[in-house]
Parts: sequence; structure tokens; C-alpha cells
Amino acid sequence: MYIELQNITKSYKVAKQDYPVLKGISLSIGIEQKNIIVLQGSSGSGKSTLLNLIGALDKPTAGDIYIDGHHINKMNDTALTNFRFSHIGFVFQHFNLIPVLSAYENIEYPLFKTNLSKKERHERVDKLVDYLKISAVIKNRPVNLSGGQQQRVAIARSLINNPKVLLADEPTASLDLDNTKLIMDLLSHLSVQEKLISIIATHDPIVAEFSSNILKLQNGVLV
Ligand SMILES: Nc1ncnc2c1ncn2[C@@H]1O[C@H](COP(=O)(O)OP(=O)(O)OP(=O)(O)O)[C@@H](O)[C@H]1O
Ligand SMILES: [Mg+2]
Repeated sequence: MYIELQNITKSYKVAKQDYPVLKGISLSIGIEQKNIIVLQGSSGSGKSTLLNLIGALDKPTAGDIYIDGHHINKMNDTALTNFRFSHIGFVFQHFNLIPVLSAYENIEYPLFKTNLSKKERHERVDKLVDYLKISAVIKNRPVNLSGGQQQRVAIARSLINNPKVLLADEPTASLDLDNTKLIMDLLSHLSVQEKLISIIATHDPIVAEFSSNILKLQNGVLV
């Protein structure tokens, strides 16, 4: 299996008290013909928490996570940084764009630490900018972008490293129907052509229409 979660639990400590959010999640995801997995659950059910664990941005309280054979909850910070760059694309619920960089630079940013030439970097960025129809605003800083434009910049940045796994947290919440379909067409294409696995936390019924599987989080477990 490409992604394997074994009995994952996650509790947050608030004022010395443990609050369990995930109470035993097991999940296996192989490389299928089409892999767009939708994660549903009410607000506060732990969708973002679960994506953060799979993306190695946080560690589980207990349980094991394997991705592409890497035991990610046992890796050190340097190994995790490299692992994330080579495997994971992440679209944050609140975008997390870098305020002092332009839209273009935000998308290009993950490539600065690679040894790709400037020409190669720009080819990759331009392709996504064209596809996502944001070429008119690439010089703007995030504060001068609309919500939907920021969201598309965040999606472009998440795909710039050609990830194997895309973890997207409400990636269409600020998008209209046409842009939602544009994004989902792209992810469908990448799932078939590049074997990209997308895991998308969302309430959007349009996204669900494009999915191959739907997972529901309820009371800390998948139902
Ligand atoms: N860093 C944290 N410290 C303490 N509690 C946290 C922390 N992060 C999340 N929680 C709690 O964990 C639970 C799950 O939060 P999470 O953000 O994963 O939910 P969600 O399903 O993504 O919700 P939404 O649909 O509103 O985005 C919530 O009750 C939240 O208050
Ligand atoms: Mg969330």
C-alpha cells in the first residue's frame, strides 16, 4: 500500500487536559487507476488534524504512518523536510501564502532549494499559472488578491514539486463553480497520468462528484 495508517490516535492538550480528536484511524490507500479521496466530517471532527498527520506536519499521539515505505512518524526533522518536498503537496485551509512575495514567487518558492535552472522553474510555474488563469495577477502580493485567486495560487504552489500525494484542506471553499471544475479536472488528469493520490477535506458536493472514494470522520473514527 502506498499510504498506510495503523490505529492512529491524536489528542491535543489544553490546560493540562487531554482532548482526543482522532481515536483509532486505520486506512490503506494503494495506487489505483483514479485516486481522488474525499474526506468529510462536521466542523471540528478532525479533518485538518488528519491531513496534517498524513502530510507529516504533525505527529500522532500513537499509531504508525507509512508512506511509500517511509515510516514517517519516526523520521527526524531533516528527513521529514526532504520527504515532504519529494512526496507531498499541501493546500492549507487558510492558504498560508508568504505575504512579502508576489503570487508568482509564492508558486516558485518551493523550487528555490532545488537545482532546477531559472528557465526550468519558470516553465513549471507558467504552465500552472496559465492553466489556473491567474496570469493577470501574478505580480500581486497575496493581500492584493481575491480569495479565489489566493486559493488558486496556493493550489499551484502545492503542485509545483510534482508531488505523489496531494493533501488539500477545503481547496475549493473560495472558488466558483467553473474554477472548482477546472481544479478537479486537473486533479483527475494528474491522478490518471501521474498516479497522483489526492486526499481532499471538503463539504463541496461538486468535489465529491469527481471523487473515487468518500471517507467520513465521525466521533474520532472513519465510518
Ligand atoms: N493545536 C490545537 N490545539 C488544541 N486543540 C486543537 C488544535 N488543533 C485542533 N484542535 C481541536 O481538534 C478538533 C479538530 O480540529 P480540526 O481543525 O482538525 O477540525 P476540522 O474537521 O478540520 O474542522 P473544520 O471543518 O472547521 O475545518 C477541534 O475540536 C479543535 O478545536
Ligand atoms: Mg479544518
